[in-house]
Amino acid sequence: MAILVTGGSGYIGSVTIERLLAKGEQVVVLDDLSRGHRAALPLSIPFYQGKIGDRELVARIAREHTLESCIHFAALIEVGESVLEPAKYFENNVGHGIALIGELIQAGIRRIVFSSTAAVYGDPEQIPIPEESRKWPRNPYGWSKQFMERVLDAYDTAYGMKFVALRYFNAAGATEKCGEDHRPESHLIPNVLAAALGQQQTIRVFGDTYPTPDGTPIRDYIHVVDLADAHILALEYLRAGGNSEFLNLGTGRGYSVLEVIDSVREVTGREIPSRIEAPRAGDPARLIADPSKAKALLRWEAAVSDLPSIVRSAWNWRLRHPNGYTSD
Ligand SMILES: NC(=O)c1ccc[n+]([C@@H]2O[C@H](COP(=O)([O-])OP(=O)(O)OC[C@H]3O[C@@H](n4cnc5c(N)ncnc54)[C@H](O)[C@@H]3O)[C@@H](O)[C@H]2O)c1
Repeated sequence: MAILVTGGSGYIGSVTIERLLAKGEQVVVLDDLSRGHRAALPLSIPFYQGKIGDRELVARIAREHTLESCIHFAALIEVGESVLEPAKYFENNVGHGIALIGELIQAGIRRIVFSSTAAVYGDPEQIPIPEESRKWPRNPYGWSKQFMERVLDAYDTAYGMKFVALRYFNAAGATEKCGEDHRPESHLIPNVLAAALGQQQTIRVFGDTYPTPDGTPIRDYIHVVDLADAHILALEYLRAGGNSEFLNLGTGRGYSVLEVIDSVREVTGREIPSRIEAPRAGDPARLIADPSKAKALLRWEAAVSDLPSIVRSAWNWRLRHPNGYTSD
């Protein structure tokens, strides 16, 4: 019995696969490599290069393997790009996502763990953010995820598709083998590390007049290993007959942009030039998870998500892969 992992050659997918393989699980990967890296995965695992929206391909994978569940990471993830090209995001994340789930149902699969996001909350009503908080995304990326949550909910009611939608806050960090190599890279920590390596001249800090202690936005950073382990626990929860759930994955504490830059200075011992720029439209001052539901339901803990550990792991990976996966 195998788990179909979509988007498995991406950042969070590849780390989750590393952790699944270590537990003796069988995986099959479907990824179009539009953003991921084949080098992030062992050559030995079954890999299909193609779109999740290619129903014939998904049906073929289901014929060639005995699939028991799906962990669905595949999506386009750039907020800014989604504002400029919403059609691309709705077609890829929603259109393809619906085709994938339809084909999984055809194949008799009734368990899915879905990558959702804190972006579904938009401008949060309260901090820390509980799951039942208002969901009103501020961009097409967030809406594409919110829409897929609604699809899953309706498919549970109608077809008995059991799901756990995991709303990640800010994924960061690396393992020995797998790290963050998005192109383009919009995430803070890899960009600050690139500046530490001299690959980027300066870090642009968007706004320093937010209502936070140092004026820069605060985010909840979660180590990618803790995220990966939550997927495994979510799958075990579904295998044990658990009901569909929406769960936040974060630590419950946040760090400002300047605190992250300071932490990178400390860990790397390097200079990080930075420059204050105008705030970006739609950037909330604070995004911090209330992770108590995931803790209680999955018996999950963010075990390695303190900021220095996150930064150290990402830095060690960067030193081994200064140009990301292209240096492999
Ligand atoms: N990185 C974060 O901080 C973060 C935060 C919240 C949510 N998420 C969600 O987690 C998931 C994984 O994020 P990531 O950082 O690993 O992104 P990533 O870009 O590294 O990985 C996504 C993978 O999906 C593949 N893909 C995209 N569209 C596809 C399609 N139509 N068919 C087949 N493959 C396709 C890409 O090639 C890529 O390998 C995404 O769904 C993202 O929305 C990420």
